[in-house]
Amino acid sequence: MRTDALPAAAALPREIFHDAHTTHTFVDEPVDAAVVREVYEAVRWAPTAMNAQPLRLAVVRSGDARERLVAHMSEGNRAKTLAAPLTVVAAYDPAFHEHLDVLAPHRAGAREKLDGDPEFRDSFARTNGLIQLGYFILGLRGAGLHVGPMTGMDAAGIDAELFATSGWRTMAVVNAGRAPAETEGAVRPRAGRLDFATAAVVL
Ligand SMILES: Cc1cc2nc3c(=O)[nH]c(=O)nc-3n(C[C@H](O)[C@H](O)[C@H](O)COP(=O)(O)O)c2cc1C
Repeated sequence: MRTDALPAAAALPREIFHDAHTTHTFVDEPVDAAVVREVYEAVRWAPTAMNAQPLRLAVVRSGDARERLVAHMSEGNRAKTLAAPLTVVAAYDPAFHEHLDVLAPHRAGAREKLDGDPEFRDSFARTNGLIQLGYFILGLRGAGLHVGPMTGMDAAGIDAELFATSGWRTMAVVNAGRAPAETEGAVRPRAGRLDFATAAVVL
C-alpha cells in the first residue's frame, strides 16, 4: 500500500470531526429538506458489504408526522425533536436483497439465496445500515449542519407508526439544523475521547 500520498491526519476536515459537536438545541431557522437528498446522493457512494445499501430514510416534514414520531421517543428526546428544523428517521430495509440484481450483479443468485434467509438478512442489513448511518451523520455535517442523532426511542413503536407497509426497521432518529452561535445549552460539555493507544493495537 502506498503511504507517501496519504494526507496528514491534520488535513482531515475539522468541521466534520474534531470541532463538530452533537447538538441538542437549534436556532429557529428552517432547513430545506432537499439537503437530505443531496447528502444521501453523496453518501450512497460510500461502501457497504455486497454494495447492499440497506439504509432507508424517512424525512419528517409535516407537523402531524413529527408528533406521531415524537410519541415514540424517550422523554429526554421529545422536546428537542419537536423543535428541530429537520428530523430524519434512519432505518434499514431487511428486504434489501430485492435490489441485488442491480446493486451486486457480480453476485449471481444472491437475491434468490437470501430470499430464504430472513434472519441473516436482518442482521446484515442492520450492520450495513448502521455503517451508512455513520456516513449520513458525517455527510450532514459536511453540508454545514449541526446534528443530533438519537437512539433513545421505542424503535418497534416507530416501525409500527411509520413503516407498517414497507417493513423498514428504525435504527436512529437524527435531528439537524444550525446550533445557536452562543452554544451554551445547545451542546453538552465535551467529554473525553479514547486515545489511539487505548483504542488500537499495532500488530
Ligand atoms: C447513535 C447515537 C445515538 C445517540 N442517542 C442519543 C440520545 O438518545 N439522546 C441524546 O441526548 N443523545 C444521543 N446521542 C448523542 C451522544 O451522546 C453524543 O453524540 C456523544 O456523547 C458525543 O457528544 P459531542 O459530539 O458533543 O462530543 C447519540 C449519538 C449517537 C451517535
